[in-house]
Amino acid sequence: MVLNMWEEDSRLPTDVIPEHYDLLLNPDLKNGTFSGRVEITINVTSAKNFIILHAVDLKIERPYLKNSSSSEEYKIIDEILYSKNEFYVIVLEKSIPPGTYNLELWFYGSLLNKIIGFYRSSYKDVVNGEIRLIATSKFEPTYARQAFPCFDEPCFKAEFTIQLVKPSGNNYIALSNMNQVGEVVDQPQPGLTIVQFAKSVPMSTYLACFIVCDFDKLEPVKSKQGFPVTVYARSGQANNMQYTLDLGVKTIDYYIDYFAIDYPLPKLDLIAIPDFVSGAMEHWGLVTFRETSVLVNEAVTSSVNKKYVSYTVAHELAHMWFGNLVTMKWWNDLWLNEGFATFIEYKGVENYQPEWDVNVQQLTDDIHDVLNLDAAVGSHPIVQTVSHPDHITEIFDAISYSKGATVIRMLENMIGPEAFRHGVSSYLKQFAYKNAETEDLWKQLEVEANGINISQVMGTWTRQMGYPLVNVVRSGDNLTFTQQRFLSDSSVTFKEDESIFGYKWDIHLTYVTSTSESKVNDCWLYHDQPSVSVNLAPGTTWFKVNHHQFGYFRVRYAPDDWQKIVNMLLTNHESVSAADRANLLDDVFNLASSGYISYKLALDVIQYLPKEHHFVPWIVASVKLKTLKRFLISTPVYMKFRKFVHKILEPIMSDSLWDISASDSYIERRRKIVVLELGCAMHLPSCVARAKHMFNDWLLNNSVKRDPEIRNMIYTTGLADSDESKWERVWQLYLSEEEPQEKAKLRNALTKIKEPWLLKRLIELAKDENNVRSQDFIQLLATISENPVGNPIVWDFYRDQWSYLVKRFTLNSRLLGRLLPCITADFGSQIKLTELKSFVAANPEAGAGAAGRCIALELIENNIRWLASHLLELETAFNEYEMNL
Ligand code: BES
Ligand code: ZN
Repeated sequence: MVLNMWEEDSRLPTDVIPEHYDLLLNPDLKNGTFSGRVEITINVTSAKNFIILHAVDLKIERPYLKNSSSSEEYKIIDEILYSKNEFYVIVLEKSIPPGTYNLELWFYGSLLNKIIGFYRSSYKDVVNGEIRLIATSKFEPTYARQAFPCFDEPCFKAEFTIQLVKPSGNNYIALSNMNQVGEVVDQPQPGLTIVQFAKSVPMSTYLACFIVCDFDKLEPVKSKQGFPVTVYARSGQANNMQYTLDLGVKTIDYYIDYFAIDYPLPKLDLIAIPDFVSGAMEHWGLVTFRETSVLVNEAVTSSVNKKYVSYTVAHELAHMWFGNLVTMKWWNDLWLNEGFATFIEYKGVENYQPEWDVNVQQLTDDIHDVLNLDAAVGSHPIVQTVSHPDHITEIFDAISYSKGATVIRMLENMIGPEAFRHGVSSYLKQFAYKNAETEDLWKQLEVEANGINISQVMGTWTRQMGYPLVNVVRSGDNLTFTQQRFLSDSSVTFKEDESIFGYKWDIHLTYVTSTSESKVNDCWLYHDQPSVSVNLAPGTTWFKVNHHQFGYFRVRYAPDDWQKIVNMLLTNHESVSAADRANLLDDVFNLASSGYISYKLALDVIQYLPKEHHFVPWIVASVKLKTLKRFLISTPVYMKFRKFVHKILEPIMSDSLWDISASDSYIERRRKIVVLELGCAMHLPSCVARAKHMFNDWLLNNSVKRDPEIRNMIYTTGLADSDESKWERVWQLYLSEEEPQEKAKLRNALTKIKEPWLLKRLIELAKDENNVRSQDFIQLLATISENPVGNPIVWDFYRDQWSYLVKRFTLNSRLLGRLLPCITADFGSQIKLTELKSFVAANPEAGAGAAGRCIALELIENNIRWLASHLLELETAFNEYEMNL
């Protein structure tokens, strides 16, 4: 059978190129529908008798094709919706020669039951309690085609002239990427107004944005370059955009300097959307945010909330250059967008809030988590082949974001920040308004790199999955480095020849030593080199490899050298930086858990912790101890483990920890919170009692709410041990809460109760969108599943109601795809493994959850082996401590 071209290839042909979209969209807020008209100017470069566009869930009418210069009309003999590839094809009576054409289409669609594409959202007006309706859009990666027929691939950049229809009254406004240039009242019918926007610069379809709403705004602030920055939010929330406005203006000013390229649009709007599927989206000129990612109300916002808002704003604004001005050619290079924006967001926040030490926080916010994920044999490389829309959404994952950001950070450290900035700026200038590939970036950076073969070095990090374990062996004053692939289970085998580099990397090794604490030494270990040796200065005791954890790898020292590090930490831990200490803790626990070293070493390293004043090493320790808790809690070893942890924490528990005052430095405040949270999580009696007391005080005695910094801990600790009546009270408080971040904290607390029937009830209540917005439902299930009582309930719900979940969120949902590994994270038995396998067998269609399923399966197998091989080892180690302390 001969296939038509649109059946053969899921990519659009490259000989029909859109140049301009003249687009009118008319959302009917009340009825939840929209209609539209688009006239696309296309440049046809070879004779064609059909034209393929993307369209999904649209009813298309009246296609009309004419030659742009002669106005000759071409007869369309067939229209085909080829849904497998999400194509709309028009077939022409006769072939058209190369030239410029205008294609006009009318179309109709629905705004309802979705939070992607062009959709309706609503909120309750705080003043009169009325439900207000808005229309808004989110297209990345492949949903512009749900709003208008278009060439929906990132390399088809075109200019857009947009018109939106809004209700004339009730304070409705229309917003889009560009500034408003005109209005036509009572068009297309009385009571409505057409809002016209300026023609855009060339951009990809996924960056287009259309909003019709009645939001408030704050007085715009001018950037240094002169364009206005405006923030919008629903009524009652605009004031909570003040922080974002200030941060936004300062960050965009900073990026204009950093990239040495002006912001090319005449305005920048930042808007909080009540229903938003992601954290935020970088629409050019009109950045949209989930409310919790952007609103800051000092009365409810904790420093962790504020940090997340800052990261998010800084991330999206970085995309104005990386992503919007220069866009990846195809989604296989998605990491160029997301990895880079994630990398730059830290610079943006460092510029705005230097006292936050975000360069150190990057370790716990991005790097450590992805090192864990990428240690699976079933991980994937940063650059990967994708074509199906499900697979495209799936790669918006930690590998693209966090590994992407981490290898870029490593590269910046290799060539130096100024050379790096210069290379990036030239790359952006060279490809402005165009598309680029990973290699294009390497080429520009190579110019600055002083002879380092960037393309080859970085290829070893981006074109194969995983990362190395660097082994370092000391003999006298000589160090020898070798490498092997690090796996979360060292006993798992893999085939080296499956990777083009044989799972070896080009590693820039850096180290500090006891004789040169502040001088960073370096050398290279290339992927095709068996080992490399260096000399230490005579008299060196300890040495620490991977300075500040700039390198994306782990380090294994010999037991003697670990002991020297332990001594250094116990006697003078500030000999190395906070980042180095965080790195040592993360490495030692992961090496132990994977079977590369003994757990005893990890327990030795953690002994210095009471002296630690920086919160980042504390976070690492806390994450590692909480992970151990999850494994051990259903085993008899738990008691000994708890005792071990209490011994570390008890000496530092004091009243002053609870006194989190504004005069504390940011670092001190965060340390106090991390320590208290760990104390509660580890059931330290004094800690839990105090938190519970505060909870009851607040809930039952109507006393003032506690400091937002510790509110989360108080709510969760208090509710974990509560009864039905207290749960019900918190549920009512949750329902009536107006502030999104506070609402999220209360919702989170509700998942901590230990009564199974209340957790079941919570899931049922949450199915109603009036109680829990769709954007939050999957996260809620994931949080309930972290509760040991809730886990089996969610697991049953997930399997029983799989068709409900798929119908509501679709198989294309990456959030749904990621839910499975959250639920199964602690599964550690053959029975559970069999349950998962039979679920997968019965439901073979995974959509955007294919990778999630592989991760879940591998994790369970690792957990089973972990329990078999480490329980006794840990028990023995805890016994030894008990005897020594
Ligand atoms: N471009 C993404 C939004 C996005 C996410 C589109 C997933 C399609 C699928 C945006 O820049 C982004 O990365 N948002 C993050 C938040 C950010 C602070 C890391 C998100 O939504 O999680
Ligand atoms: Zn992003």
